[in-house]
Amino acid sequence: MSLPKDGLPAEQVLDEIRALRAADRPTHGGRLFAYVYDPGLDGLDELAMSAYALAAHVNGLDPTAFPSLLAMENTLVGAAATLLGGGPDTVGNVTSGGTESLMLAVKAARDGAPGVERPRMVVPVTGHAAFTKAAHYLGVALDLVPASPSTLRPAAEDVAAAIGPDTVLVACSAPAYAHGVVDPVAEIAAVASAAGVRCHVDACFGGWTLPYLRRLGVDVPPFDLSVPGVTSISVDLHKYAYTPKGVSVLLHRDAELRRPQYFAYAGWPGYTMVNPVISSTRSGGPIAAAYAVLRHIGDSGYLALASRTLEAVRSLALAVSGVEGLRLLAPLESTVVCFTADSFDVFVLADELAARGWHTQPQFAYGELPASIHLSVTASVAPRVAEFGPDLAAAAQAARAAGPVSLPSVSLDTPLPELLAALGFGAGLPDRMAPVNALLNAAPPEVREALLVDFLGHLQRPAL
Ligand SMILES: Cc1ncc(COP(=O)(O)O)c(C=O)c1O
Repeated sequence: MSLPKDGLPAEQVLDEIRALRAADRPTHGGRLFAYVYDPGLDGLDELAMSAYALAAHVNGLDPTAFPSLLAMENTLVGAAATLLGGGPDTVGNVTSGGTESLMLAVKAARDGAPGVERPRMVVPVTGHAAFTKAAHYLGVALDLVPASPSTLRPAAEDVAAAIGPDTVLVACSAPAYAHGVVDPVAEIAAVASAAGVRCHVDACFGGWTLPYLRRLGVDVPPFDLSVPGVTSISVDLHKYAYTPKGVSVLLHRDAELRRPQYFAYAGWPGYTMVNPVISSTRSGGPIAAAYAVLRHIGDSGYLALASRTLEAVRSLALAVSGVEGLRLLAPLESTVVCFTADSFDVFVLADELAARGWHTQPQFAYGELPASIHLSVTASVAPRVAEFGPDLAAAAQAARAAGPVSLPSVSLDTPLPELLAALGFGAGLPDRMAPVNALLNAAPPEVREALLVDFLGHLQRPAL
């Protein structure tokens, strides 16, 4: 579909988008457990979109030209700093998301140690894949630290042992995405500090809920800037602060630590470029929308949302424990419920749940950990939890009756179009993803990566 010769009426193009959106997973309604964070608050989308529209054309490239954006960004950073143990010296920026926040934490650490020729960073294996991406983009070598298969946590002694003279950063998670488990931040920050190395806490997922869960009585260990040795922390507002996509905050303990995060260049004939983040031009839309959402929900609103989420997490976990053959893989420390099936195929179970309108996130086996189902639980799930238990029981029964999925008899080096046809891909995904997931689960990670890159490349072609 190329450009229409003459422009189309506004209502028609909106209808086109609505028609396209019909194929998407439901972003509201509490039945989607990944990708989308929904507070289930009436009117919030409309407010966010009005705010977005007010600032969509404002450019964050130069805050002196658009002080409104600077003021809103500083407000968001201030709110995050207040929530996450910041002090009078704390500084920060809004980035486009968790990945960018982590990349910038790594850049700041790398450029903050200019004497280190071959910089390295120490990251637990449970750390988000974005750390590996940052290492790859920024030429920083990665030293992975194992996590205990029982606690899913790295040991601070292993972190200490992995720190060497070229280490510029130690990272940990609060919590790690896959299982929702909080790393021993205080111990890790202590060993980093003893070695004179920066320590970044990836609280992208949980930074906006853990402080509220603590206020609700959950035993949340210290994880933020109040912990000595933590030098930076990231929190995604587009996750549990429930803002539209494109907003994360990266905080540093002080301005000196932040300084190498900036990129500045005056050696060309145009304007001197000074960027705190990866993009140069950036829309004010996401920042204004986040500003409106944070101020509209407010502290008591977030506490109430965390309370609803906690209730949902506990009810979902109870439902899992009530089904024979299912087992929680991780303790409930945040807003993740992660479980596995011991006596039937977890990928078939995910399909059976999808058939009943529950969209979960299957996770492949890793090391000693079995394949599992991940649920990122948001406040919108609370009103639906009573429906989940019976559906989960029925889905488990169906998965047990179906037996383990047999691996498709197609080799992974079959040319992609034939491979996809053999796996049942047509215009969209196959109805049942279990055979595909079983195949990917059995493939070595490098093969899986290459295959999925080819698959995305196959999808991402121009519509002519
Ligand atoms: C702990 C953690 N860190 C980083 C990220 C990356 O965030 P984004 O997808 O916004 O780039 C995620 C995303 O789920 C996450 O859970």
